[in-house]
Amino acid sequence: MTDNRDTSAPRGRDDPFWNSVASFGLDEIFVLPEWIAGLKGNKTISITGGEGGSIPSELAALVSRVGDCRACVLCEERNTIVFGAGNPSAGIIFIGEGPGANEDIQGEPFVGRAGKLLDKILAAIDLDRNSLYITNIVKCRPPGNRTPAKDEVAACWWILEEQIRIMQPGVIVAMGAPASRTMTGSSEGIGKLRGTIHRYGDIPVIPTYHPAALLRTEALKRPVWEDMKILRKLLDELGLPRAGKNQA
Ligand code: URA
Repeated sequence: MTDNRDTSAPRGRDDPFWNSVASFGLDEIFVLPEWIAGLKGNKTISITGGEGGSIPSELAALVSRVGDCRACVLCEERNTIVFGAGNPSAGIIFIGEGPGANEDIQGEPFVGRAGKLLDKILAAIDLDRNSLYITNIVKCRPPGNRTPAKDEVAACWWILEEQIRIMQPGVIVAMGAPASRTMTGSSEGIGKLRGTIHRYGDIPVIPTYHPAALLRTEALKRPVWEDMKILRKLLDELGLPRAGKNQA
């Protein structure tokens, strides 16, 4: 996997940002104005973009480059390469694990039961499919919906890396352990990773539980709600989504 993450950047509890807010309870976590100011001044994150620009054409070129990808075994049973969907100019990317059976047929991420629950979670913080972009760490369905293997994630990594480079999101939400580990570079479990703002380069990453886990375990709804409150606060500070909800 080509990993250009800034490993020198402190993460989690070694992070001065985290330390400065650690005395506050999770419900009270807030985003330091100077940290936000730092993000606004960073060239990696365009807060003021949002008209679309060359993003659609660059993404279309990326789809062409991916072509009929044969880079890993997932190509053998897939029907569709599920690239991603939503508003690529919004400045928010949600990242899941991999397409399921419905997604493999319809060619769109999160169209099954987990997707319906995701829609409700998004609505609770006043977001919808047009106010963010959704993709997965692997673009082809792992047979039987198994967790994607490390080599499959590695083979697909360059596509996600390119999507992020093209869309330059102000924030990334990683759903579930595989996406959270991939985006933070940590091998910790999701229970440890969530509740803290991590970084991919300079982009804030909010790990949370996968909606499919909530369908199995009701008790996970509360921590996801806490994570969504952190996200909502961050979005307000960053002025995201960049485009209006109903503008593509
Ligand atoms: N679960 C995922 O992680 N991604 C999808 O696209 C659908 C279900």
